Amino acid sequence: MMVFTANYKMEKRIFDSPQATARGFAEHFLKLHKENDNLSIALSGGSTPKILFDLLASEFKADFDWSKIHLYWGDERCVPPSDDDSNYKMTVDHLISKINIPASNLHRVLGENDPEDEAIRYGEEIANDLTEQAGLPVFDIVLLGMGGDGHTASIFPHQMELMTDKRICAIGINPDSGQNRVTLTGPVINNAKVICFLATGKGKAEKVDEIFNKKNNYLAYPASHIYPTHGNLFWYLDQEAVTKLK
Ligand code: 6PG
Repeated sequence: MMVFTANYKMEKRIFDSPQATARGFAEHFLKLHKENDNLSIALSGGSTPKILFDLLASEFKADFDWSKIHLYWGDERCVPPSDDDSNYKMTVDHLISKINIPASNLHRVLGENDPEDEAIRYGEEIANDLTEQAGLPVFDIVLLGMGGDGHTASIFPHQMELMTDKRICAIGINPDSGQNRVTLTGPVINNAKVICFLATGKGKAEKVDEIFNKKNNYLAYPASHIYPTHGNLFWYLDQEAVTKLK
C-alpha cells in the first residue's frame, strides 16, 4: 500500500487491485468500529461496493458486532426495494442477507415513496438519529463512489447546487436515464467524521487525474467538492484508477 498524505485532512491510499482496495477499506472500517461503540455509515451504491460488501460478509463477517453498526445510504434510486436498480437490494444481496444485523439498524431510503416526500422524511430520520455539528447531522463514515462524469452519491454535474443545498437530502436526477434519486447533499457529506471514496478501475482514471491535479474542468465535478469541514478524507484507489496520476 502506498500512502500519500496531501495534508492532515486528505489521504490517498493506493492498492494493487480492486480486491486489495476493498480490503484496505474494510480494515479501516473495522478499526473505526473497534474505536466507536455505535457507528453510523452511509453506504454508496452502484457496482464498486459489491466487492467490499462480499468481503465484509465473508472474511470480515465475524470481526464485526453488527448490532453496533447502523447502515444508511448516501443515495438511493427512487424504485422499490425489490427492484434490481435499488442500492438497498444490492446491499441485501451482497451483505445484509449474510450477516446478523438487527432490522432496526437498517435505515433504508423508502425508494417506493414519492421522491420529494422521501427526501424530507429520510432527512428527518437522519437528523433524529445522529449527533449534530455546525447545524448538520454527523455521519461517522460516508462511503462514496465516483461516476465517470465526476458525480458522487447522486449529485451530478448538472445539479451542482446540491453541493451547497441547506437540506439534509434532496432529489438528484440521473442525466442519462432521468431517474430520480434521493441523495445526501454536499454539506451533510462534508460534515462526516470520515469520508472515504472507493474508486477502482480504468474508468475512474481520467477524473482522478483531473481532480487531484486540478486540471481542465475539474471544478465542474461534484466529487472535487468533497472536502471534510472537520473530519478526514480518504481516497481508496487501485492502480488502474491512478494510471494517469503523475
Ligand atoms: C449510485 C452510486 C453512485 C456510484 C457511482 C459509481 O447510486 O449509482 O451511489 O454515486 O457510486 O455512480 O458507480 P460504480 O461503482 O458502478 O462505478
